Amino acid sequence: MSERILTGITTSGIPHLGNYFGAIRPSLDLANSANESFFFLADYHSIIKVNKPKEVAISAQKIAMAWLACGLDPNKTFFYRQSDIKQILELSWILHCVTSKGLMNRAHAYKALKSETDDKGINMGLFSYPILMAADILIFNATKVPVGPDQTQHLEMTRDIANKFNHTFGEIFTIPEALIDGDGESLPGTDGKKMSKSYQNIIPLLSTREELKKSILKIVTNSLEPGEPKDYSTCNVFKIYSYFADNNEIDEFKAAYEEGISWGDAKNKLFELADKHLEPIRDKYFKLESNPQDVIDLLDEGGKKVMPMAEDLLCNVRESIGIT
Ligand code: ADP
Ligand code: TRP
Repeated sequence: MSERILTGITTSGIPHLGNYFGAIRPSLDLANSANESFFFLADYHSIIKVNKPKEVAISAQKIAMAWLACGLDPNKTFFYRQSDIKQILELSWILHCVTSKGLMNRAHAYKALKSETDDKGINMGLFSYPILMAADILIFNATKVPVGPDQTQHLEMTRDIANKFNHTFGEIFTIPEALIDGDGESLPGTDGKKMSKSYQNIIPLLSTREELKKSILKIVTNSLEPGEPKDYSTCNVFKIYSYFADNNEIDEFKAAYEEGISWGDAKNKLFELADKHLEPIRDKYFKLESNPQDVIDLLDEGGKKVMPMAEDLLCNVRESIGIT
């Protein structure tokens, strides 16, 4: 069966290796295998956390360029901004009305902040964020959603919300599945926590060679000296290296740890391998950067292509709830 692949990236901050390995690369692999694909900039999600308009605009541009530099083919893929598809916001409201508050109380992003701040400073966008995400997915009847491991819960919520709607109003929505690459762990950042645009711990996807080196040198390690054997299984340099490496390279790197490679040399090995992998992406990105209007035009066109599909689905939804 042909699948409908859909994924989005929030336009806050700059794209990083976690976005690349968790979402962009697996999505593009699927897009190449004759599936229909929908990739978008989740710009209305960004204002939950960011209130600096310039930052949102710059982030949107960089994330769009990241997709294209990594190989997205706009002739084979629907590529658009969430904000151009107003039907998503309308569907989001309708879905709010079939979602229980208790389900949102359990969302991990909300729960984590609530326990820190006792609800102070938490906006309703953050609270109901998984419902907007469900609308993004359900509006196009996506079947598969490639995401990083941190999004598993949001996909389960999307399924819950879609089932509840279908049960109440009739079979309108396809129930989507999450596709999670790898071992279920997020790529660590330079401090060992999940790499995220929200923390100062990223290794950027689109940087110069020098900037890449600088961020790799920031990866936190322990104080073992050169010559002392090191445990690769708990090491962030090793974990990030293994995303780029093949099995032989991984075995050699393990042996080097056992032989006591210095942290400087380990980081250098990671840098060389990452740089080799990222160089063609970087070259494409710098070309795209010299013509930003082309990217804006592409997204405008993408929005115009998908909007009628969203409107068709929404017509069915409106009819099913009695708003005609
Ligand atoms: P961030 O957490 O940096 O704001 P987003 O929330 O915009 O990133 O995530 C966009 C996509 O990238 C999602 O599919 C998410 O699961 C994936 N992703 C983000 N960080 C990581 C990571 N450290 N490891 C794996 N996937 C990730
Ligand atoms: N919530 C996702 C994140 O922050 C981004 C996103 C928004 C998304 N809508 C989506 C991902 C729909 C997949 C499908 O990581």
